[in-house]
Amino acid sequence: MIKVADSKSPVWMLRMQHSDYAIGVDAAGKLQHLYWGAKLVDEQDLPGADDRPIWILEDDQGYSRQEIMPWGGLNYDEPGLKVTFADGIRDLVLVYHSYEQPAEDELVLVLKDALKPLTVRLVYKVRAAVDIVERHVELHNEGTEDIRLEQVLSAIWHLPIQPQYRMSYLSGLWAGETQIQTEPLKPGKKVIESRRGTGSHQMNPFFFLDFGLSDEEFGEVYFGAVAYSGSWKIVAEQTTYQSLLIGAGINDFDFSWKLEPGETFTTPISIGGYSGSGYGEASRKLHRYQLQSVLPCADQLRPVLYNSWEATKFDVNEQQQMRLAEKAAKLGCELFVMDDGWFGERHSDQAGLGDWTVNRTKFPNGLQPLIQHVKSLGMQFGIWLEPEMVNPDSDLFRSHPEWIYHFPGRDRTLSRNQCVLNVAREDVQEHLFGVMHALLSENDISFIKWDMNRYFTEPGWPNAPAGREQELWVRHTRGIYSILDRLQQQHPNVAFEACSGGGGRVDLGMMKYVVQFWTSDNTDPYDRLRIQEGYSLAYNIKSMMCWVTDAPNYINQRSAPLKYRFHSSMMGSLGIGMNLNELSEEELEQSRQYIEQYKRIRRTIQEGSLYRIASPRASDDTAVQYVSGDQSESVVFALRRSEQFRMPFYPIRLRGLDPDAAYSIEGSDVRRSGRSFMSRGIQVQLEADFTSELIVLRKV
Ligand code: GLA
Repeated sequence: MIKVADSKSPVWMLRMQHSDYAIGVDAAGKLQHLYWGAKLVDEQDLPGADDRPIWILEDDQGYSRQEIMPWGGLNYDEPGLKVTFADGIRDLVLVYHSYEQPAEDELVLVLKDALKPLTVRLVYKVRAAVDIVERHVELHNEGTEDIRLEQVLSAIWHLPIQPQYRMSYLSGLWAGETQIQTEPLKPGKKVIESRRGTGSHQMNPFFFLDFGLSDEEFGEVYFGAVAYSGSWKIVAEQTTYQSLLIGAGINDFDFSWKLEPGETFTTPISIGGYSGSGYGEASRKLHRYQLQSVLPCADQLRPVLYNSWEATKFDVNEQQQMRLAEKAAKLGCELFVMDDGWFGERHSDQAGLGDWTVNRTKFPNGLQPLIQHVKSLGMQFGIWLEPEMVNPDSDLFRSHPEWIYHFPGRDRTLSRNQCVLNVAREDVQEHLFGVMHALLSENDISFIKWDMNRYFTEPGWPNAPAGREQELWVRHTRGIYSILDRLQQQHPNVAFEACSGGGGRVDLGMMKYVVQFWTSDNTDPYDRLRIQEGYSLAYNIKSMMCWVTDAPNYINQRSAPLKYRFHSSMMGSLGIGMNLNELSEEELEQSRQYIEQYKRIRRTIQEGSLYRIASPRASDDTAVQYVSGDQSESVVFALRRSEQFRMPFYPIRLRGLDPDAAYSIEGSDVRRSGRSFMSRGIQVQLEADFTSELIVLRKV
């Protein structure tokens, strides 16, 4: 709900369930950020657009908190916009022009440069129920000469002025994604970013900010993200005036865009949100937002998937995949995915990427016999592809060496023996769409795992349209979105999973196109607890794929019992990655039972409210709870890494139950009130290393 109050100059209040966000126009015609935080009574509670402290030396304009900080005048903070006009002028003075309200929850504020024909539209959409504002920017060249864009962020978020700020974010590496970092901010900039062409394992485009006092359950938390899968940047700048702004959007590093007369440049969305009840509530709002507004097929349960990558690696063939499929179906798997190795001369990671035709030695009659077999077993069929990549040892590379990012005459650095295709080129987009469209038209495929196993280097675009070489970063990402878009229009029943050597491309931009993400190539069930905890900070559980794989784990040789492995993976959307041919009858039967149990409770896990009760970062004991929307069912996982000194797992005090209702624990005669489960807690008996319990509570 957006309220417009027009006294002397207009004020816009974005009113949400538990928070408000307000913008005004100052005497100089600049759009000033007025307020973001807990709900106000009305606009009389707001400061005026000109209420700013006057500082020595820089006058009050130096303290400007503009909604988009254009680089011009006395603005020395991180700019949201930096451009160069054709005559060399590099100064931008944006003045309020008008506003539009296309819908009840949408607002567009139109700004124009004081002298030049550049129109800037700040576009807001309010997700009131989850206290989230979506923001993006559109720049329109109304003149007759080119304008060069050098920095165009999606949003500048201003926090209330407080003596202390603390930032939490997700860093990582291959096999160790989404690790939670929390650190106090000091004057200066804290930048998290990717310059790698895609989101990256190293940093995730997401942040939490608080005033140094909040925790999982209590305190104010501001959060945000960039819905974008290319090189991105989030910069928190704390000024020496104690203010804090966070810019979020496309990375300006090596970025340049030629905006020709009549053209519009549209940024990706950045979201900003507010929680008055700690990190936990901030995550739950993000989860609900994604399930309601971003994730495709959010109302459908994710099927239990089987994938043989860890079991067979590149060595796939028709008979072996059929045998695995038979066993997977008996376990209760619902989707069978064939991973890498089925195409071209792909026998290792040395060759074949780019040649997306079935290898006829491995599959003499094409894919159809395997697909028919999988379907006759009652499962859907999915397949692995890595469309953006090419091995030098491939027919595609041999016929189109110019399709690879490179600087002519210089080395093309390989990573995992592969190069990145120049998806900024429209002919490459056409080629990739054509290949995938044909594959999906000729075969009954329901699911594609879209992988991306290396980052950009030598980002050269030989023969690029004049003056547009550095647009490749953005054009590549837009190219990927457009291929996904076209494929989904042509094949509406095919679901996509995003993977990038594990969780290297997890973001809200990609989430619009994919039903789930491959969380990490690290499938060790203990390492996974931290990776999954970090994931859950920003992203919903339904989209978090977790496989049960063999013991010892290939990553670290750690052996955990089957029960612990299942419990760790049942905390997300469940998959199986074990070599089913090597399992004993007993292990197969136990696995079947876990899968059956998972199916009974998966709606609560995939769609419920998540409570991180005991963090794996704090001790060897981890506990996570899920509560169904109507509070009738709750699922609790408790996992112990190692037991020491016979110390018991402390009573787990549950959250989110109906205090006045009675709940019973499945498989026992325990029956107590929700209030008692939340205040007294439940005691689990975990007495050895790698032990775990799954407790299901139901309202009686
Ligand atoms: C990446 C993925 C794995 C697997 C391999 C195949 O590493 O993350 O799950 O698909 O590629 O080469």
